[in-house]
Amino acid sequence: MRRVAPALKRPGARVLDICCGTGDLVLALQRSSGGPVLGSDFCHPMLLAAREKVGRRSAAAALFESDALQLPVRDGSLDLLTVAFGFRNLANYAAGLAEMRRVLRPGGMAAILEFTQPPNAAFAAVYHFYSRRILPWIGGALSGSRDAYTYLPESVRKFPRAPELAEDMRRAGFSDVEFEYFTGGIVALHLGRVG
Ligand SMILES: C[S@@+](CC[C@H](N)C(=O)[O-])C[C@H]1O[C@@H](n2cnc3c(N)ncnc32)[C@H](O)[C@@H]1O
Repeated sequence: MRRVAPALKRPGARVLDICCGTGDLVLALQRSSGGPVLGSDFCHPMLLAAREKVGRRSAAAALFESDALQLPVRDGSLDLLTVAFGFRNLANYAAGLAEMRRVLRPGGMAAILEFTQPPNAAFAAVYHFYSRRILPWIGGALSGSRDAYTYLPESVRKFPRAPELAEDMRRAGFSDVEFEYFTGGIVALHLGRVG
């Protein structure tokens, strides 16, 4: 929250969390924001679960069903757009960034929290061994679905590395782009502003 506070704490800030899933980040943003927070996802059952959770705890949050590549939101109307662990699943990253850029107003900020590949080669080797060999085995044994636990490391492997995603954001028109690794580089937070 600290990193997005400049946009989040603006008086009357308009905030949207896309690919919101069951709404945890919507609730966290709502706790820190002065104004209402919107959440969107294209998966109806996810939104129903989010509505149940968010509705119980916050009257000021609103949820709607939408593809992140075609948001029903006016050009230049948001102060902050966030996406946590959803951007990697988009069918077209350039189109996703262009849509994020379109809905943010001048001075607005985009924040992308996503799994990435650790920059440290030794740690990356251990992590890759764990995520490709051990995680699918444990996940498959516990859940009965090995595929779900194979998809995660495979999709992370195909996803642009953090410096490449930062470059993609610049190409999409974001300025002051920066990123920070978390959890040994397994996760990265990218921030970009609209000038
Ligand atoms: C791993 S979940 C993350 C949910 C939530 N952001 C969180 O951090 O708990 C990914 C979510 O992205 C949504 N999603 C994936 N592609 C999408 C798209 N093109 N448009 C809207 N939602 C999408 C999925 O329906 C799912 O709810």
